[in-house]
Amino acid sequence: MNHISSASPLTARRSTALKGCVRVPGDKSISHRALILSALAVGESRVTGLLEGEDVINTAKAMRAMGSRVERTGEGAWSVHGVGVGGFREPEAAFDFGNSGTGCRLVMGAVAGCPIVAAFDGDASLRSRPMKRVLDPLERMGAKVKIIADGGRLPLTLQGARDPIPIVYEPPAASAQLKSAVLLAALSAPGETIVLEKEATRDHTEKMLVHYGAQLSVTPHGAHGRRVALKGQPELSAASVRVPSDPSSAAFPMAAALIVPGSDIVLEGVMTNPLRTGLFTTLREMGASIEMLDVRNEGGEEVADIRVRASQLRGVEVPPERAPSMIDEYPILAVIASFASGTTRMRGLHELRVKESDRLAATADMLRVNGADVSIEGDDLIVNGKGAVAGGGMVKTHMDHRLAMSALVMGLGAQKGVAVDDASFIATSFPDFTGLMRRMGAELA
Ligand code: S3P
Repeated sequence: MNHISSASPLTARRSTALKGCVRVPGDKSISHRALILSALAVGESRVTGLLEGEDVINTAKAMRAMGSRVERTGEGAWSVHGVGVGGFREPEAAFDFGNSGTGCRLVMGAVAGCPIVAAFDGDASLRSRPMKRVLDPLERMGAKVKIIADGGRLPLTLQGARDPIPIVYEPPAASAQLKSAVLLAALSAPGETIVLEKEATRDHTEKMLVHYGAQLSVTPHGAHGRRVALKGQPELSAASVRVPSDPSSAAFPMAAALIVPGSDIVLEGVMTNPLRTGLFTTLREMGASIEMLDVRNEGGEEVADIRVRASQLRGVEVPPERAPSMIDEYPILAVIASFASGTTRMRGLHELRVKESDRLAATADMLRVNGADVSIEGDDLIVNGKGAVAGGGMVKTHMDHRLAMSALVMGLGAQKGVAVDDASFIATSFPDFTGLMRRMGAELA
């Protein structure tokens, strides 16, 4: 699905206590991987709880274009007939990944391991993001970049390797996308590919590869890292995947409940994989009332119902080594920090500069235009919370879904509300955000 909707401004007004029990959509990272691994497996895989946002739908289209049968059988329910490792056929047209760095980079990895040529493109946001970092290891594995825009960006054409080479790879950044692209290419390579991560990043690709039958081992590497070793050329077998709710989407209603006085909500079935829940740890340190109810295992991931109550929060220091486990949550944490008392220093945020927007600069602008006290020092974001936010600003969202949702949540607690220039990109990851928030009592119009 290309992003066809035109800019749609939206305003959040100061709201009264939020209440209710809601379920946020399926995890975006797992949804992309479920489609790609199902397309590479032999037989029919069934996926339930799939996030049906624009980003994931674009990955489904790419899998179809390479010969896999991908069908929607019900709400969030999808059937995927895979072609087997190395079995992708050459797509006729260029892929359009819209706004999605994850879809684009993971599929580059999958293409790199097959003897086909594929062209990759996306929207203006995706065209501005670095691709060389993912192409470098894929070229080492034998893929060739045929055409590429200036600065190593989209649009580009990639020729996959006829005889992929296994490598030992140390990602230059803490990035699950880089790791995953290499592991997907490595599926077609003979022998063992090893990824040495200095900082552990989300491990969904590793867990899901094992679920589909690959031989993969994960061992500690250094103080915070992991060594991932994958044996190439497995036969992946079709599997069932139940996608849990996305903790990165849950962060928005959670934040709203914390800052709107009197709120008391429950978020159902949220994934609590420790490589994704740095925000929960941070919020607890700030004094947030967050209770995990009915912690259980669903489809290989730990999930819980999470009760969140409005809380008096204090500023904290967030260490840089926590960044990979909450990399998408800094804009909303900055919003929460502006309602807390005291200083929150978020350290080591260089990777935020290469997200759907330059999230470091855009987050600071979002707070500033609403009267909050914020600064950037090197790679650190510093928010001096005053217990309340004036609001009244118009936030530029730069085609970035998480900025739009963060700004709107800010408006639910701010004295004069907050407006955003364009809420349409929220559809990439959380299509019913407005409806779900309204059902809890949020004033969005
Ligand atoms: C993702 C990894 C992260 C994250 C993105 C999803 C993934 O990106 O920001 O939203 O599913 O692998 P990086 O790997 O670039 O940090």
